[in-house]
Amino acid sequence: MSMPVQTLTPITLDAGRFSIVRCANCGATLDDRTARATCPTCGGLLAVEHLAPELSGAELRALFDDRLGVSAYRGAAAERSGVWRFRELVLPAAQLDEIVSHPEGNTPLLARDAVAAFAGVRDIRLKHEGHNPSASFKDRGMTAALTQAKRTGALAVACASTGNTSASLAAYAAQAGLPAFVIVPEGRVSAGKLAQTLAYGANMIRLRGDFDDCLELTREASERLGIYLVNSLNPFRVEGQKTIVLEMLQQLGWEAPDWIALPAGNLGNTAAFGKALREAHRLGLIDRVPRLLAVQAAGAAPFAAGFGDNFATRRKVRAETAATAIRIGDPASWDRAVDAIRFTDGQVVAVSDAEIFAAKRVIDGCGVGCEPASAASVAGVRALVEKKVIDPGERVVAVLTGHLLKDPDAALATRVGGGLGSEESLSRDEALGHLGRVLAEPGAR
Ligand code: F0G
Repeated sequence: MSMPVQTLTPITLDAGRFSIVRCANCGATLDDRTARATCPTCGGLLAVEHLAPELSGAELRALFDDRLGVSAYRGAAAERSGVWRFRELVLPAAQLDEIVSHPEGNTPLLARDAVAAFAGVRDIRLKHEGHNPSASFKDRGMTAALTQAKRTGALAVACASTGNTSASLAAYAAQAGLPAFVIVPEGRVSAGKLAQTLAYGANMIRLRGDFDDCLELTREASERLGIYLVNSLNPFRVEGQKTIVLEMLQQLGWEAPDWIALPAGNLGNTAAFGKALREAHRLGLIDRVPRLLAVQAAGAAPFAAGFGDNFATRRKVRAETAATAIRIGDPASWDRAVDAIRFTDGQVVAVSDAEIFAAKRVIDGCGVGCEPASAASVAGVRALVEKKVIDPGERVVAVLTGHLLKDPDAALATRVGGGLGSEESLSRDEALGHLGRVLAEPGAR
């Protein structure tokens, strides 16, 4: 049975145009080839709106499922991408030959008994975004942002970053042939991320300040110097990141889970997930909306505090957490994220660094692994099961946002809260004796 054609957003456009950009604050509209990351009239956050595809939910699902059959080895990168598979909902006007794609996406949905036991729910899947080309979810937004940078004729691209956005930007800018500038907080970015950013050829400034200072400076520099800003304020980043949700729904046979848990810092991803779910529901891709669970580190939790008073005021904090990726005190996508939590009847929770590292040890210990910030999603699920907000029988997807090797220091066994394995420095003879003793221990594997 075919469902009625749904309208995504009631917009009218000139022939040949598919999208417009609208300010969520003052309503001003911009052409879809705009190079502005924020509203030129009021400085508000922009959102991209697409003309709805003239297909029913069932037809759209069939289109997206058909594209899964495209060979992994042939065809344009964009045709093999887990972002551009959903191109009608990402950037319908983009031509295959102008898309800057690695490709990216196509990340696995994993189930591990040890994680389920730790979290306290029977059915928890891990959507592992660390399997992207630069090893974090940022590549999904970056392919869209760099495609847009090329469409607008940008001469250079820039971002502020806690490390993953900069690594991803550096990789995609290299592919697009554009100079990349990244501003990161001095002494606060993990080794893996710094190494990637430099290796891919970006110009890096280590600012004596925190991420919030970096973002303020980057916004000012892009305003004054006309460099294209690709932080998650950029509405095209949001369009790409929506595909984390679209792809997981597709992997679940378009049966929505009860909850989707994700770590939350600058709130770009929370905003993208809300937009994806709103659109997926409106287009008939899913018939029920999962609840979002945004998880912050307790030392960097202005959004969790805001949730406590129903977001009566916008809050800022001086952020501190060992999960450096989400060490952010003044999240840029606050308003969009509030909308996402309200629309999905979501929850926001703060977890301590100890809880984050406890979850990380379980995720690492079953051979999956993730960086510290990513483990916040699983820690948040456990916290809400304990509070009896999540029922053990509900179906949960927890997003792992970055790969274990992003932060090798955090995984070393010698570090407090580090890996489960053991290390010994031994001579050849000592090593043989040691192996024999360990194997003879009860419970040795
Ligand atoms: N997880 C990881 C691994 C991240 O790198 C980030 C953000 C988040 C979660 C939070 O996502 O900001 O959309 O709420 N990293 C940014 C960066 C800030 O610069 O790499 P968010």
